[in-house]
Amino acid sequence: MDVITVNDKQEMSEKASAILFNELKRNPDLVLGVATGGTPAGTYNKLVEKVLAANLDLSEITTVNLDEYVGLARDHEESYWHYIYTHLYEPLNLSPDRALVPYGLSDDLQAECTKYEEAIQKVGGVDLQILGVGRNGHIGFNEPGTPFKSKTHVVELTDSTRQANARFFGHKEEVPTQAITVGISTIMESRSILLLASGKEKAEAVKALLSGAVDQKWPVTVLNQHPSVTLVVTKDALETEEDSYNDQ
Ligand code: PGA
Repeated sequence: MDVITVNDKQEMSEKASAILFNELKRNPDLVLGVATGGTPAGTYNKLVEKVLAANLDLSEITTVNLDEYVGLARDHEESYWHYIYTHLYEPLNLSPDRALVPYGLSDDLQAECTKYEEAIQKVGGVDLQILGVGRNGHIGFNEPGTPFKSKTHVVELTDSTRQANARFFGHKEEVPTQAITVGISTIMESRSILLLASGKEKAEAVKALLSGAVDQKWPVTVLNQHPSVTLVVTKDALETEEDSYNDQ
């Protein structure tokens, strides 16, 4: 794993967007796996600036969302379809025809999961997967304990994940209780992975990853078995409460 340590979130976004921009320049029909949430938002903003400044044509790329809430319509402001549309497609003036996002309103969620997995295969798999990490170590919405062989599936969101995402919805009770997420084995099939972590609340998860262990209790640690991972991490995400206590 390549580890790039940066001072703060802004520098993380700058670094990550530069990596993405170079990949997109090299491969105009890249299949890009896209994470959502607070972590990558600045990266997408900076990527959009770079793409517009260079007049790079991204009309041939495909994006594959990692996950979507169950029960939210696409035009709901907190749906992940809406997120990727407003962070990438709208500012780049791209048609969202090539945006793959699980359909969270499907009346057959199992069939939707199978269909999504097939859709990823049909576009040739993900070339570059952007990932964030949850404070409990989840990747996508693969919560602790998810089998590493899992494919796209429906998950019950943990209390801590709903609490963490309450900031977007105003109140935890508004956060959906279920989501569709690509599975851990789906993520592991990506040809390369760009993992972003910022903030001290991610430090326990980052520590588990960097310990080199591979442990289902910390889903992110599966990435220790992936051949091509770049981690861009802020300094504060490298220091757990326990570490800072011991330093005193
Ligand atoms: P965040 O979420 O970027 O909003 O902190 C990360 C995650 O849950 O994967």
